[in-house]
Amino acid sequence: MSNLKFYITTPIYYVNDKPHIGHAYTTVAADILARWHALQGEDVFFLTGTDEHGAKIAEAAEKAGQEPQVFCNQVSAQFQEVWQKLGIHPDFFIRTTNPEHQKEAVNFLLKLKEKDYFYEKDYSGLYCVGCEKFITEKELVRGKCPDHKSLPARIAETNWFFKLRGFLPQIEKLIQDRELVIQPENARKEVLGLFKQELDDFSISRQKVKWGIPVPWDKTQTIYVWVEALLNYWTALKIVGHEDFWPPDVHLMSHDILKFHAVYWLAMLAAAGVDLPRRIFVHGYFTIDGQKMSKTIGNVIDPNDLVEKFGVDATRYLLLSQFPFGKDGDISEAKMQEMHNADLANGIGNTLSRIIKMVAQFFDGVIPKCKSKSVIEINRIWSDKLKKGLKPDLSDTAVHDFSQSWIGYEKEMENLEFDAALARIVKMTSILDEHIEIWKPFKLVKENKEVAGNKLYCLLESLRQIAWLLLPFMPETADKIFEQLGLDPKKERGKKFAEAIKWGGLESGNKIKPGKSLFPRIQ
Ligand code: MSP
Repeated sequence: MSNLKFYITTPIYYVNDKPHIGHAYTTVAADILARWHALQGEDVFFLTGTDEHGAKIAEAAEKAGQEPQVFCNQVSAQFQEVWQKLGIHPDFFIRTTNPEHQKEAVNFLLKLKEKDYFYEKDYSGLYCVGCEKFITEKELVRGKCPDHKSLPARIAETNWFFKLRGFLPQIEKLIQDRELVIQPENARKEVLGLFKQELDDFSISRQKVKWGIPVPWDKTQTIYVWVEALLNYWTALKIVGHEDFWPPDVHLMSHDILKFHAVYWLAMLAAAGVDLPRRIFVHGYFTIDGQKMSKTIGNVIDPNDLVEKFGVDATRYLLLSQFPFGKDGDISEAKMQEMHNADLANGIGNTLSRIIKMVAQFFDGVIPKCKSKSVIEINRIWSDKLKKGLKPDLSDTAVHDFSQSWIGYEKEMENLEFDAALARIVKMTSILDEHIEIWKPFKLVKENKEVAGNKLYCLLESLRQIAWLLLPFMPETADKIFEQLGLDPKKERGKKFAEAIKWGGLESGNKIKPGKSLFPRIQ
């Protein structure tokens, strides 16, 4: 029987400028989910890429004094490089200037043309190149696009239009019935609100934009950049010959491009008669120190700088732990630094080295025997004793009921509550610290070495479990913890999640391997 398939997609980012942490936020999250699903034994296909056609890119290339393709190659490479640096490993990186994408996008549109879903119409309206979309007078603020603070251009041309209206009722119903899940709830409501407004047929071509794919049946026009971009999720699987992954199980993005995905994309797919994505998750849009990220303000954070300062895994942690994934929030480098020191340096890093040091010092680095077999068993001993009115003694104590933690963690991962999952890990680490304070293995070892060994085993095994929790978020850190625990990270990672989380995976008698501090403090 073949494994369950899981297809995850992110928006493809514009190459008018280099990547910033807004792009990193979505893509790190997608990488975390891809890893999480792979850990459950699913066949995962993770797609991201770059959006390279249209007036916005052509203008940026001109400004840089470069041919558009040369310019796109350079900026797209910057995206690919920074994803590598962030430990993000998509299964395919799609570029819309890839000739194969162009061929498949054309095929898709020809299918709709055959079905008579396009017609020609004269159109005039205000167009914002920054947004790459038509904008209404009502949306302008003092005559300018509120997002780009630029004057829109008045466009009057004959374009090809897609018969959108015919598809609206069926899409609205699917969203209404939650057959197509849009999360969080406020995003779902926003989308359902769109269907109550006047949604009109939309133009799929441009007469005056040269940097694009020619409309196959009318070479005087190019395909509207948004249309070919929205087709990337489909064309990518065609290019790599993995159509069996269709449809996307989850698509991530922020609410800036919600209408394009939740209305136009879905309608085009419905028109082609292919399955619609199963779930769209709309994460928050963040500001930096309370302000919108912008070149003019000069507050754009380059993910390369974060990796330089904090390292790969800490950057991944800091991006996802700031605020709930589905809510807007604010990011500040000062707060990131504080959290780095509190949660990672003093937290996970310090707890690991404390425990490892004690095992090295008191047990010659050999993982001690564990008297108690499982947390559940210990819980039973506790409750039996309490029922009989007896006080359980410390040697019956497990570190923490991890079975409960796993259930909570799994739910959080399923609901994309990354901040909560990470807070849980940090909390679990602090529970280990509390137990060191209560048990004082360094004292206990002089009184009863066996019981002290038992305690240290519990602490080590808890660290192994914490490493598993960290695996999707901070893969390098998880490996480092496995190594210090004397485990082979490759072998450990080869395990399935369900098997790995069973209590007692750490073998007594093996030797630990003390290593460097995981997260040196940043001053
Ligand atoms: N090229 C289009 C998308 C086409 S998809 C068929 C585009 N590109 S973009 O470069 O502007 O990327 C927008 C996306 O980047 C957002 O939806 C979000 O995923 C991410 N983010 C960009 N800035 C962000 C923040 N400040 N905060 C959170 N996410 C941000 O639109």
